[in-house]
Parts: sequence; C-alpha cells; structure tokens
Amino acid sequence: MYRTHNCGELRMSHIDQEVTLSGWMATSRDFGGMTFIDLRDRYGITQLVFNMDDNAELCESARKLGREFVIRVVGKVRERSNKNPNRATGDIEIEISQLEILNAAKTPPFTIEETTDGGDDLRMKYRYLDLRRKKVQDNIIFRSNLAIASRKYLAEQQFVEVETPFLIKSTPEGARDFVVPSRMNPGQFYALPQSPQTFKQILMVSGLDKYFQIVKCFRDEDLRADRQPEFTQIDCEMSFVTQDEILNTFEGLTKSLFKTTLDIELPDFPRMQYDDALRLYGSDKPDLRFEMSFVELNDVAQNKGFSVFDEAELVVGICAAQQADAYSNKDIKKLTEWMQRPQIGAKGLVYVKFGSDGSIKSSVGKFFSEDDLKVWGAKFNAKPGDLLLILSGEAEKTRKQLSDLRLEMGKRMGLMKAGDFKPLWVVDFPLLEWDEEAERFHAMHHPFTSPKKEDVPRMLTGDHDTMKSLKADAYDLVINGAEIGGGSIRIHDRALQSRNFDLLGFTKEEAENQFGFLMGAFEYGAPPHGGIAFGFDRLCAVMNGQASIRDFIAFPKNNQGKDMMIDAPSPIDQQQLNELNIDLQKEKI
Ligand code: AMO
Repeated sequence: MYRTHNCGELRMSHIDQEVTLSGWMATSRDFGGMTFIDLRDRYGITQLVFNMDDNAELCESARKLGREFVIRVVGKVRERSNKNPNRATGDIEIEISQLEILNAAKTPPFTIEETTDGGDDLRMKYRYLDLRRKKVQDNIIFRSNLAIASRKYLAEQQFVEVETPFLIKSTPEGARDFVVPSRMNPGQFYALPQSPQTFKQILMVSGLDKYFQIVKCFRDEDLRADRQPEFTQIDCEMSFVTQDEILNTFEGLTKSLFKTTLDIELPDFPRMQYDDALRLYGSDKPDLRFEMSFVELNDVAQNKGFSVFDEAELVVGICAAQQADAYSNKDIKKLTEWMQRPQIGAKGLVYVKFGSDGSIKSSVGKFFSEDDLKVWGAKFNAKPGDLLLILSGEAEKTRKQLSDLRLEMGKRMGLMKAGDFKPLWVVDFPLLEWDEEAERFHAMHHPFTSPKKEDVPRMLTGDHDTMKSLKADAYDLVINGAEIGGGSIRIHDRALQSRNFDLLGFTKEEAENQFGFLMGAFEYGAPPHGGIAFGFDRLCAVMNGQASIRDFIAFPKNNQGKDMMIDAPSPIDQQQLNELNIDLQKEKI
C-alpha cells in the first residue's frame, strides 16, 4: 500500500497511529541528531522526523534524499513540541521507521514554493513542476470546482450538454481562424471554431431548447493577459426567450457560482445602457468597484478664451476625492506624462485643486476665474481637498483616455479592493460599427445578433446613417471591469439574416457559401432564440482577483502563442507536408 492517509490529513486525533504516506520531498533540515523532512502532496505538507539515535542507517538515507524525490514512509504520529499554527498538520509529526525511494528526481530548475525564483519561460517549460506549487494547483482545483458547479446549475435548469465539432468551417467572431489542412480533400481546410455559435443556433432549430457546453474556442489574435489563442467558454443557448429571461438565468448562474465556490452572496446586478457606460465611464466594461464617473464640462468651460477647450468636441473630467493635497505640481506633471505616453496619447491634462484650506489652484487659472472654477467644482460635487482631472478633444478618443486615467486613479487610491465584486449587465449595444478605414460596417457582437424589434423596419429600409443608430438585443456581463460574457438574441428569419449579411458587405454568393446552411435551417421552423457565452478562464481569474488568465489554465501558451513545454508550434516533416499537399517553397512566394 502506498498510503493510509494523505499529507494534509493527520491531526492530534491520530496520535500514536502507525501511518503510511507517499509524496514529494519538499525540504529537508538536518540538525545532526535529527533530520526533518517536509513531505508534500496535493492535500498538504506533513513533517517527518528521522532520529539518529533510533535508527542511524535510516537517518543517513533520509539525509541523502534530494529535493522532489518521490518517497513512501511508514511511521508513528506524534505531537510536535514546537507547533506550526500556519499548517493544517502543524500539531503533529511522523516518527519514521521505514523509508522507500519510489523515484529519484533531478534538482528542479526553480524552487517549488509559494513564491518561486523561476522566470515565466522557465516555469512554462517545466509546467509540471510549476503545477506542483500550491498556489498554481489551487487555481486549477478552483477551475475544476467552478466547472462542476456550472454543470450542476445548468443541468438543474434542464440545459442539455452537447458537444459540437472542432473541425468546422470558419465562423466570424472578429478574430482570425486557426486552420487545419484536409489530407483527404487536397487544397481544402477546416477552421477551428472561434465559438460554437452557428451550431448552437442549429441545435435550437432542432428543438433542443436549452443547450450548454464547456468548450474550447480558438482565436488567432494578439495575445494579452486576458487572452489566450485557445480558451474556454461556458457556451449557452435557449429557445423562446426574451433578453430579460436570458439575463435572469445567467445572473442566477453567476450568483450560484459565487455562492458555491467563494461563499459570496452577490446582490442583483445593475443594468446599464451601452451609451451610458461610454458617457459615464468611457468604457463598455466599467469597473464599478468605485464611482468617479465622468462629468462633461462643455457648457461651462467653453467660450471663455481657452482655445484648447473651445476647439474640442468634448471637455470632460473626473473628481479624485481627497487627492488635491496629495498631488504636488511635480506629481501632476508625472501623471500628465503618463497620460501622454503613446499607449494613451493624451495631448495634455488640466487640473483643478480644491485645497483642503479652501484654496483653488488650476493649470488653466489664467483663463478661468475662481468663480468659473467653483462652477466646475459644483458640477462634480467637489469637496475641499478634491482634485479635478480634465481632458478635452475628440469625444470618443477623449473618453477612452479618461477611462484609462480613471482606472489608474482607482488603482492609486486603493479603490479596487480584493474580495469586492461589482457585476454589471451592459445592454443595448449598437448592432453595427462603422469602420472608417475600411469604409464598411462590422457586426458589433457577431452577424447573427438581432436588432431590437422596434429597429427592424429601419434596418430593412433605412439609409446609411440610420444603420449607425440601430440598437441590438446584445448584452455583456462585466465584473470589476472585465468582460466576462457576451451574448444576444439572434436573428431567426432568413430575410433579416440575409439583410444583415448585405449590410456587412457580403455578396449574396459569399453569404450563401459561408452561411447557406444556417439560413437554410431558418426556413424549416427556427424558433426565436438567444444565448450567451462566458469566458471561463476570465471568470476563474476575476473571481480570484487576478488579471491574468494563464495561471488558471493547466497548459497555457506564452505571449508568442507558444507552448514552451511541448515546443509547439513546430515544423512538420516533409512526408506530412506532401500528404497535406503543402509546398512550403510555394507558400513563401
Ligand atoms: P464573445 O466573442 O464575446 O462571444 O466571447 C465570449 C467571452 O469569451 C471570452 N473570450 C476570451 N477569453 C480568453 N481568451 C480569448 N482570446 C477570448 N476571447 C473571448 C470573453 C468573452 O466575453 N458566440 C459568442 C457568444 C454568444 O453570442 O452567445 C461569443 O463567442 O470573456
């Protein structure tokens, strides 16, 4: 037998029992007469004691064990003289009578502890060692619990789990496809799904009524902390539903997941219109852990002789509470430089300090009287001690820049508290987005999203400008400023779907070629339907207060899209290339 107990299990109640444990040698401390070893497995760490006086040979063997050796020990549980209150097994230790080496180990390239000395690439190359660290293992176990809880909740709501294929035809979700050459059909390619979007809609036409799948999706896009080329969605679709019913169902799922995995009761989620999110927070995914909403100043700050404001489409600012005294002119200068970096690209930053001593100071004091600045302050409801930070320029850009500043100030002021969760539904997204450069419309969500019922007539007959104002039954779930999920009510009518493809610049042939199967299915009794997909990796990270999804994925890719452990992607041999009819020389030309 390898073990009677695991390494996290033994307590005072086990005193005097003989036990067998197996695990990894984490650390060893040698005190001449005694050797202490920390034995680790998934469940915890247990201290082993080898006594020179009792068994010199055994103690010698213990001293020779290297880090990460896999061992099996037999011994008696005894009370520790100096207890470790930080460890579940900290009251006891095992007096060892037998030691067996199950497998030796090379010295690991980094320490396998809470904080490691291993750099990113090294940890990725030896992912199996990184995964031995409790912190990383806890993340993977959290993910497992979250998947199990999601399945349980959805199954209780009568959702059916259906697997959809991975070798498919391209589905446009805004990113590039990963493609797979077909050996049996020379010159032809499958695409890996960016999401199972069209399949889940087809399942609704089939009458499955409620579908879900915890599913891998593949997108060849630039990588960031919250993006991986393959990631997981909790993908869902329902028939005969309104937007409200979908939001309620998935608010229920989210609340239930927080309750079961974190024991947190979330209050009802507020709903905010897309237009309001942009106007008040400059973002379609506002972090509502703090307010600091935008106040527009065009009516009070323009036509007073300050040409920068006068020429701007928008003058808008935020009020950083009780920061006036904390920010010296030098600090403001640094903040301005931070805003002027190319990543943000602000031209300048105007401030007004309402000092706690009643003074008013501003970088635009030359152009505005104290009374003018007091009017601004009143708009923000500013108190003595508050600092106004104001930007101006073209509306969309300025809002985006101020959103970055708002988040930075939130961070600096400690307003993004760990353990504080502020979910939000952003609703009423525009249907289409005009791309100035390409001079064409893109679908704001995806091409299958339905316009609002009242906007259908305008969509069928309206002119170009009308199209820009169409609203969709599309929604995002945002938690703490992260887009956790997105979905929509779908078009279920062939003519409307066809019109949408027209607007998106598809020719009739292209639309038929790519989506004929879906529009065809719509002609055989498609029910009204809609759904949502949660970014599962993102949900894991946000629930744990982290920005990077990598640590919640057992085998993630690095920022170049590489798997450092298995060394992928990698070249394939000539014979495979021949079979797939791929001529690399030709491809290069
Ligand atoms: P969408 O494209 O908004 O919708 O994706 C849904 C959610 O998936 C997550 N996500 C990602 N997570 C990690 N890495 C990525 N590269 C990545 N891309 C997206 C986000 C996002 O909110 N078919 C539709 C859903 C629907 O309409 O039902 C879709 O895929 O959290």
